[in-house]
Order: sequence, then C-alpha cells, then structure tokens
Amino acid sequence: MEKVVLEIKNVSKSFGRTKIIDNLTFSVNSGEIFGFLGPNGAGKTTTMKMVLGLIPFSDGDICINGYSIKKDFEKAMQNVGGIVENPDLYEYMTGYENLKLVARIYKVDKKRIDEIVDIVGLKEKIKLKVKKYSLGMKQRMSVALALIRNPKLLVLDEPTNGLDPVAIHELRDLLKDLAHNRGVCVFVSSHLLSEVELMCDRVGILDKGRLIKIEGLKNITEIKDKNDNEAIYKIITSDNKKAKDILVNNGYEVNDKKEALEVSIKKDKIDLLINIMLSNGITVYEFSIKKATLEEEYLNVTGGKINE
Ligand SMILES: Nc1ncnc2c1ncn2[C@@H]1O[C@H](COP(=O)(O)OP(=O)(O)OP(=O)(O)O)[C@@H](O)[C@H]1O
Ligand SMILES: [Mg+2]
Repeated sequence: MEKVVLEIKNVSKSFGRTKIIDNLTFSVNSGEIFGFLGPNGAGKTTTMKMVLGLIPFSDGDICINGYSIKKDFEKAMQNVGGIVENPDLYEYMTGYENLKLVARIYKVDKKRIDEIVDIVGLKEKIKLKVKKYSLGMKQRMSVALALIRNPKLLVLDEPTNGLDPVAIHELRDLLKDLAHNRGVCVFVSSHLLSEVELMCDRVGILDKGRLIKIEGLKNITEIKDKNDNEAIYKIITSDNKKAKDILVNNGYEVNDKKEALEVSIKKDKIDLLINIMLSNGITVYEFSIKKATLEEEYLNVTGGKINE
C-alpha cells in the first residue's frame, strides 16, 4: 500500500528579502523515487535542507511520515535520512568505524550496521579507510549513513555528481531496490535528465522556487498517440535527402532532423510509405516510432529551446 511519506504544504522561504521558495506544495509516497529537477538556483537544495531540518522555513509546513517539522521536529527527523552537498565522512577511519560512530549516536545495534553494509554493497571494502575509497564508494558510504536509522524518507541532493557510468548504474540499482523492494520514499535531485528518466517514477520541475510541473515519468515519455493511431515516426534511409523529396512530392509533411526524417502518419499507412520509398530505389535502414523524452519536456516547461 502506498502511503504519503513526504508532504510539503504551502512552504515559502526567503533569504533576506528575496523569496527563494514560493508556496511550494507536493507530496511523495512510500516506494516511490521522486526526481526533483530545475535550473541552477531554482531552490532544490534549499527545499531539501528544509526537509532535512537543516534550515528553518517561515510559512507552511513539512510532514514526514505524518509528523510535522514545526510541531514534532524530533519525530519528523527520526523518519528521514539524507545527504546534501558534501557528505561528512571521517577519512582516516574505516567505513565500518564511520557507521559505528553514527550508530552509537542513534543507539542502533550492530545487526543494523551489517544489514546496511549489505544493502549498499560495501561488504568487501568496509574495513578499508575511507580515504582509500573511490568517489562512488564514498557516495555509497553516505547513503549507508543516511540509512542507519532505517528512515522512511531518503533525501539525496545530486547523488550522481562526479560518478562514472558504472557507479551511476550501481547507485540507480541501489535506489530502486530501496524504493521498490523496501518501501523507502526516495527524494532525489539531479541535472542528468537521461539518468532521471531511467531511475525515477515521478518528477517535479522547480523554477524560481515554484513547482511548474509534476508528472509520472511514464506519462511524459509514453508514445504520444495522436487521434486515430497517428504518431510521429523516425525514418533513416540510404538517401535521406532524396527520400524527403519523394515523400514531399507524395503529399507527406516531412520534418528533416539532422540524422533522420520525421513523418506523422497513421499506423495503416506505414506499408504505403515504405513501398513508395522502395519503388524509388531507397533502402530503409530504420523506421521507428518517436518517443518523447524527459529532456524535451524539461526544455518545454522551463522555456529552453530544443536543438532542431
Ligand atoms: N544561505 C543562503 N543565503 C542567501 N541566499 C541563498 C542561500 N542559500 C541559497 N541561496 C539562494 O537561493 C537560491 C536557490 O539556491 P539552491 O541552492 O536551493 O538552488 P538549486 O536549485 O539547488 O541550484 P543548483 O542546481 O545550482 O544546485 C539561489 O538564488 C541561491 O543563491
Ligand atoms: Mg543544489
């Protein structure tokens, strides 16, 4: 059963006289990975700091697992773990010692430490000093620390920063496991849209402190079927220039993208279109339906331009 774990209600935050977060309202469920996107300076880190109880806010409220940060700070904080900016690791201590230190503060037993080491996949390296860890291993170590208290909500500010493709892949699997198999609510910010597309169940786009879009990822990237089964198809041929001329002469509207042609047609006209090309001596190398991408959606809503 999905349950609201993070609830942000009409939150505003100003630094001095400048309003940075403007009446922000949204919620995230258990078992869900929620991607928090937006341009530099949009207010993502500020929001995450408020959720982690690191900075105060004036208006509205934030509830974690039902506990209000304003009225029930301690209980709200018991249910959240996270990393914003650089994780605090003691470099001269081993990974295990780092975990033991935090476990002692929160009175967590050894069994939980072992469990976490297992979850984040650091078993082999946990007795090594942190200064000998790679960036990816340090990132896992920080996730481990954030998980010590078995939080219902995990907050991660740009966790993929600086990681290589393998480490990104591993972190993605780890977060998916936490959310989808262990019911953790994962609230993560990132600028890597292709990564977010692979990792997140839902995204929220923040711009100048306001949420301008909140949507399930499937809704964004699903094939945009226009009416009557009409969709945009990408076509790559042996001679795109000639193919374009032929199609235009046959009454098709063709969009010439650098490496492919794009044509909007109905499903039952695919045969006809391919036949026209073949009978004109053109070989079709690729014919595929065009999927919308998160990047396109992001650029649309934030007012950026898509590369034509
Ligand atoms: N302590 C502070 N004092 C004053 N202004 C601040 C403070 N912290 C953040 N800001 C301002 O708040 C705005 C939002 O910053 P924030 O770090 O939340 O953005 P962000 O969305 O995380 O951006 P990025 O993608 O670059 O990480 C920025 O204009 C920033 O200058
Ligand atoms: Mg930030």
